[in-house]
Amino acid sequence: MGVIGNWFKERLPVSGVELAELTNEPVPNHMRRWWWCLGGTPAYLFVVQIVTGILLAMYYQPAPETAFESVERITNEVNFGWYIRSVHKWAATLMIAAVVLHQMRVYFTAAYRKPREINWMIGMCLLLCTLLLGFTGYSLVFEQLSYWGVTVASNICDTVPVVGGTIKQMLLGGESYNENTISRFFILHAAVLPTLMVMLIALHIAILRLQGISELQFEDEPEEGPKHFDFFPDHLYTELIVGLVLMILLSTLATLYPAGIGTHADPLTTPEHIKPEWFFYPSFLWLKWFPGTVAVLSSGFIVFVMFIWPFIDAMIVKATKYKDFYVWVGIAGVLMLVGMTLWEALH
Ligand code: HEM
Repeated sequence: MGVIGNWFKERLPVSGVELAELTNEPVPNHMRRWWWCLGGTPAYLFVVQIVTGILLAMYYQPAPETAFESVERITNEVNFGWYIRSVHKWAATLMIAAVVLHQMRVYFTAAYRKPREINWMIGMCLLLCTLLLGFTGYSLVFEQLSYWGVTVASNICDTVPVVGGTIKQMLLGGESYNENTISRFFILHAAVLPTLMVMLIALHIAILRLQGISELQFEDEPEEGPKHFDFFPDHLYTELIVGLVLMILLSTLATLYPAGIGTHADPLTTPEHIKPEWFFYPSFLWLKWFPGTVAVLSSGFIVFVMFIWPFIDAMIVKATKYKDFYVWVGIAGVLMLVGMTLWEALH
């Protein structure tokens, strides 16, 4: 510390202890357990995505003639390229799973109720951004499924009345997949969506700090004694251990199941089976069940209901005086999501 510490202290008159005190917040006791503080997990995985994404972008070349070859080079030739790419891919999968689990914990503890409605809606934007990051990422490899996935998705956009055609054109940079498309997806994936995510996460956490985390009451919890503990160092240690476990898990998955690569995109050959990644299975099945416009508009309606759910829930509670209706809606929603995902996985 000595000389270097003093050098900094003379120029920046804040000590680590003061900084910790300033940013310390009382954390409710239930946050000692990982499954109650799941929000930190997607935040950690997002950082992993940024770091590995920057490393991948140093070799990735976003053009139809070069994209596939550059991914092959990263996988087979670049030092530790296979590892960075596999960690990036697995962290994306785990991040989506963690966001969904965090949303479920928030939902089933009714932590979205007044005054946390705004943070729920910011959370919904984070969920959509996470899913879009997943989709745009897969489209960059320029293998058959990337090409046909983008083509199918842009045709789905086209079925939206009034604005559909414009959205499709903006996405593709033309009427159909062309030389501008892949760089558009790259800019969305590597610049627009991550920047939006950083801003949304900052807002999410700022609001969280202003409101404090909701207090949960457990039956086996002693009545007496403190109800909170300190963020520094107690909660920070929990998050550091979660981070360490995640890093071991990511490395294990990347080594045992490294990211593969399919066949080069071929605009003239439609693959026999087009299947999106597992996190789009429910939407994919929905599209099989209903005709284009009906499927797209009803999906949009479901997302809209999820956005404004805290207000719908408040109205239901006010009208019926029954506080637990949301639990039944939640169970039905989870069963449907899990059922549809399993159904699509097995067919
Ligand atoms: C990248 C995605 C996300 C990150 C990094 C994140 C981060 C966090 C963190 C660190 C907390 C503190 C409590 C906890 O750990 O459970 C939290 C709470 C909260 N999150 Fe998220 N979150 C994300 C997505 C979402 C989503 C998808 C929703 C819902 C649609 C949501 C809604 C909320 C709400 C309402 C709270 C307050 C809960 C309470 O006070 O008990 N978040 N979030």
